Amino acid sequence: MSAITVEPVNSLKAELGALLGNVDLDNLSDADFDVIRNALYNHNVICIKNQGNLTPKAQAELTRRFDPKALSYGHGKTIDAKRSILHPDLKTVPHQPEVQIIGNGFVAEYEGLKNITLKHPHHRSFHKTVIPEDQDLDYTRFYRWHIDAALYGKLYPPLVTSLLAVKVPAGRIQTLLYDDNSGDELQVPLGTTAFASGYTMFARLSPEQKEFVLGSKIEYAPHPYVWISTAKSRPDGLGIVSEDKEVSIDDLPEIERESDIQILPMAWQNPVTGKFALQIHPSVVRKIHLHDGRIIDDLKEVRDIVHGLQRPGIAPELVYAFDWKEGDLVLFNNHGVIHSVVGAFGLDEVRLFRQCNLAGSHPPLGPSAVLA
Ligand SMILES: [Fe+2]
Repeated sequence: MSAITVEPVNSLKAELGALLGNVDLDNLSDADFDVIRNALYNHNVICIKNQGNLTPKAQAELTRRFDPKALSYGHGKTIDAKRSILHPDLKTVPHQPEVQIIGNGFVAEYEGLKNITLKHPHHRSFHKTVIPEDQDLDYTRFYRWHIDAALYGKLYPPLVTSLLAVKVPAGRIQTLLYDDNSGDELQVPLGTTAFASGYTMFARLSPEQKEFVLGSKIEYAPHPYVWISTAKSRPDGLGIVSEDKEVSIDDLPEIERESDIQILPMAWQNPVTGKFALQIHPSVVRKIHLHDGRIIDDLKEVRDIVHGLQRPGIAPELVYAFDWKEGDLVLFNNHGVIHSVVGAFGLDEVRLFRQCNLAGSHPPLGPSAVLA
């Protein structure tokens, strides 16, 4: 028996968000872990409060418990590449390489790192159009909707990501603009992490779209985060504008094995509920492999199809904008939600988070594995 309590936090979006109580991570029984795992796969984003003293080692061990055969950090060593768009955003904890430091501002010392300057990703560095400078404190955007995944080589998408809020600057509210002619906007706490459910995204598709999604696979670009380093995003953060600005394949690092290019199902199955999530990293899609063997390789067409499938699922009423407090430990189902950094901090607003995920020990469970 476990004493852990699970309380859904979004009455209209029960599958996004739950608060767990009575959790003692230093003494976690198998029954306790079963409750946590079930909560994760039913609510997809779960929070345990007051975990500011959790060590990086304990964070990595908890994260590994969801996938005991997982070994290395989710991106392996691929973020070391200076041209990778992820390179500036992540600093590795020297004594616990599965754990990364992210945040904003100057930190004199933390976990063996000295005099580090963290930079909260800002849409100005990634979007084709930007919010004017003089409105930057009041308005913001989704920076980049994504799955935490290398999407290349032998590194399968991590099952679970954990995020610990060590330091959170005093909050204010920003208005998030979609800026896509929809008029959509959303009030968000400063520096929120936005989550959208892939299950809702899938459930709301038409019968024809569902059939298409269940039968199709996405081919991701080789060295995906170098490939898009010269390209720019749509204003809703949901994929790239097609204007032929990607790094040409010849200028990418060598592709050692053709099999390093990842081709993954569009729909990933939840191991507990059995539901399918529409689960695509929209920025780094390159081709769509259809059920009958044909391949759509026109990049603009591929992106437009993916955007058409995903955009309804990030409507303002479907987004869970997490309101961070210091000590919050959030675990999310990285095979069932997409998420985005949000917000613009001032230089003096210091924020420090620890992120951990591990390359999956197996590929996501797709429809063919289920139907076979
Ligand atoms: Fe992420």
